[in-house]
Amino acid sequence: MVKLHPLTALATCLLGIGDAFPYLPFVVDGPNIVDTSGSVVKLAGTNWPGHMGVMVPEGLQYQSIETIVSDITSLGMNVVRLTYAIEMIDQIYDNDGEDIDLRTAFVDALGDDNGTSVLADVLANNPQFTESTRRLEVFDAIVAELSKQEIYVNLDNHISRGKWCCSGDDGNSWWGDTEFDADNWVRGLRYMAEHATSWGNLASMSIRNELREPSNNEAVRATYNWETWYKYVRQGADAVNAGNPDTLVILSGLNYDTTMQPVVRGEELSPGTETFRFDDFAAYADKLVIELHNYNTETDSCPDLQGSLYNGGAQAMNPDDGSTVNVFPVLITEFGFAQDGSTHNGVYSTCLAEWMPGNTAGWMQWALAGSYYSRQDVQDMDEAWGLYNHDWSAWRDEGYINDVLIPSVEATLG
Ligand SMILES: *[C@@H]1O[C@H](CO)[C@@H](O)[C@H](O)[C@H]1NC(C)=O
Repeated sequence: MVKLHPLTALATCLLGIGDAFPYLPFVVDGPNIVDTSGSVVKLAGTNWPGHMGVMVPEGLQYQSIETIVSDITSLGMNVVRLTYAIEMIDQIYDNDGEDIDLRTAFVDALGDDNGTSVLADVLANNPQFTESTRRLEVFDAIVAELSKQEIYVNLDNHISRGKWCCSGDDGNSWWGDTEFDADNWVRGLRYMAEHATSWGNLASMSIRNELREPSNNEAVRATYNWETWYKYVRQGADAVNAGNPDTLVILSGLNYDTTMQPVVRGEELSPGTETFRFDDFAAYADKLVIELHNYNTETDSCPDLQGSLYNGGAQAMNPDDGSTVNVFPVLITEFGFAQDGSTHNGVYSTCLAEWMPGNTAGWMQWALAGSYYSRQDVQDMDEAWGLYNHDWSAWRDEGYINDVLIPSVEATLG
């Protein structure tokens, strides 16, 4: 299905340029993401978390970066959603502009003994690093390997404080929450956007993961609405575009990123009367993409699941729907379920795998990680939803990989 611009096809043929990855920067044309050859691009991949306590991408105590990326490649995927915390950038500012080294990062998060021994394992697997390597140099090395293996990066601001996400009482739910300072967020987005200008395969940046209603903060809860959303989303999107005019900018909605409905339907952003306007993003209106998450894992109805995704915002892919006012490409940047050998046969898994290829611009499964350096104060915590097993040495559920995931990747990427 790849449609090459005629001149590109000719040049490819005459000059033998068979491999021109990455065809960036992408632009948006209606519901499509389009590359520099004029082809419609679809994305299919997974989430590689890097936003938790250590603020270093997970798994490196078990495998080399090259091995992990090769495993992703073996699934046929072409994108990784790489997550980070704003706290990482706050620490850089607090440290006179210098990033924290790996020794400090691991010892601060895991304690002296475990931090030292886990870091020793990271360095044994990844001997290009030392204890004084900086965290962002690890991000850079991962991105470089992804680029080498022709995989795009979607850089995602997952949370402000570096820790597991997300709940209504974790202090990171909404602008102004105890650990979610709006100014630091804008500064962090701008910093990462500028930093990522050196990443040859950066396709997109999402500005905030899973905005949600604070459950334990009355004052902030009073501002949880679409009007506030629009105020801050413009600030964040502007910061990303100012730092990196080439990247796509991904907007996410309310209620754990399950709805963008008033944006897509052009309704008033309540309690205000303003509506979403591409003109408010004039300099980069052709860079805007929306993302949705879905964890309705207990569903027993595929039509219901598809309906909630459609009404939540996936109808932005359908300009012919009379209620679609603002057309965007839509990415499902998170969905996932237990990798236990049987859940992949259920309605949720099979319905999404069948629906996403034709009804979205792409998707990213949660998550690649088979375990975390530390999650919710448990070190070396197992991730039962991880594609990898605990020590990142094999897939946890081969049935999912072979019967559902790979076919869905192939159906998406053609
Ligand atoms: C250190 O690591 C060991 C082995 O993973 C674990 O049992 C222990 O709880 C960790 N220590 C702390 C303080 O979490």
